[in-house]
Amino acid sequence: MQIKITVLPGDGIGPEVVKAATRVLQQVAEKFQVDVQLTEKLIGGASFEQFGTPLTDETLDACFKADAVLLGAVGGYQWENLPHQLKPEAALLRLRKELGLFTNIRPAKVYQAFVDSSSLKPEVLKGTDFVVFRELTGGIYFGQPRGYDQQKGWNTMVYQRHEVERIARRAFEIARQRSKKVTSVDKANVLEVSQFWREVVQKVHQDYPDVELNHLYVDNAAMQIVRDPKQFDVIVTSNLFGDILSDIAGMITGSLGMLPSASLGEKYALYEPVHGSAPDIAGQDKANPIATIASVAMMFAYSFQMTKAAELIEKAIEKTLEQGYRTVDIHQPGSKLISTSEMTDQILHNFETLYHEEGLGVFTL
Ligand code: IPM
Ligand code: MG
Repeated sequence: MQIKITVLPGDGIGPEVVKAATRVLQQVAEKFQVDVQLTEKLIGGASFEQFGTPLTDETLDACFKADAVLLGAVGGYQWENLPHQLKPEAALLRLRKELGLFTNIRPAKVYQAFVDSSSLKPEVLKGTDFVVFRELTGGIYFGQPRGYDQQKGWNTMVYQRHEVERIARRAFEIARQRSKKVTSVDKANVLEVSQFWREVVQKVHQDYPDVELNHLYVDNAAMQIVRDPKQFDVIVTSNLFGDILSDIAGMITGSLGMLPSASLGEKYALYEPVHGSAPDIAGQDKANPIATIASVAMMFAYSFQMTKAAELIEKAIEKTLEQGYRTVDIHQPGSKLISTSEMTDQILHNFETLYHEEGLGVFTL
């Protein structure tokens, strides 16, 4: 099999974590006899500096041509005061829109070795395993009219029926393969757009009677995630609410540096860590590469149906954490503090061991 991946390192720690993840990608591909072709392009502030725009047609084109896109992170202090359309973040939003990536999947799974380093008590956290389905190409992020002048600022939260239907359908489908429980999050007590969202989700639910559906207001959902995260299985929500809830979910699992994501449309797919560009630690070989490496695992699973490869990457991460290795964001007294590249070495080493232990090396040895 041949796969073409467009790689967009971006800004801040983006290039470091992407480098780590592509090392894993290449080693896994080699083991599973996949011929992987990587094309690297600029995005975000890095692209702005070079071309005066955060997203060039050339980058966009390379994404259209790829089987999957791997992205690091975009943004940084030096670009914060640029006009909206020139900000690094605008590139990411446009990319999601152009590629039609309406489903953003953000799993919040607690690694066993990690239960102690969360801000939540181990007994609250243990066994937490849910996934946030965030609508990614609609809602207030894209609604018109938008703007600001001297006197006011405004945005529009709008959802079309088909936009709610397709994300709801995906959430119900995945729920069928999990614990068959979907929680739809909205603000239907205040917003008409949320009332509409709720009604459409209920309608779609009629096709999935075997899946349990409940609704929560977003403020309550935020509270419930930290109070009792185990109660959730699949959360489906709009763009803005999903942005917020997935950061909360990321943090309870120990560090945002651990949380991967997949953004899927009908045709294209993009994989990226949930965390941002962390400019304060950029270029120091300190960043946690796990979220990006785990995003590569999601890529193997979702884009290439290589579940075994995905599983081995996840196990290698888990084993590395169990061995006590930690980057600075998750470091604790008694754990072994290592750099981005050392963490990657260790994960690769564990991947090799697991691969052979499972007998997968038999034919390639
Ligand atoms: C995320 C980020 C982005 C978003 C930013 C960087 C535009 O916070 O992927 O969650 O708000 O969607
Ligand atoms: Mg966010």
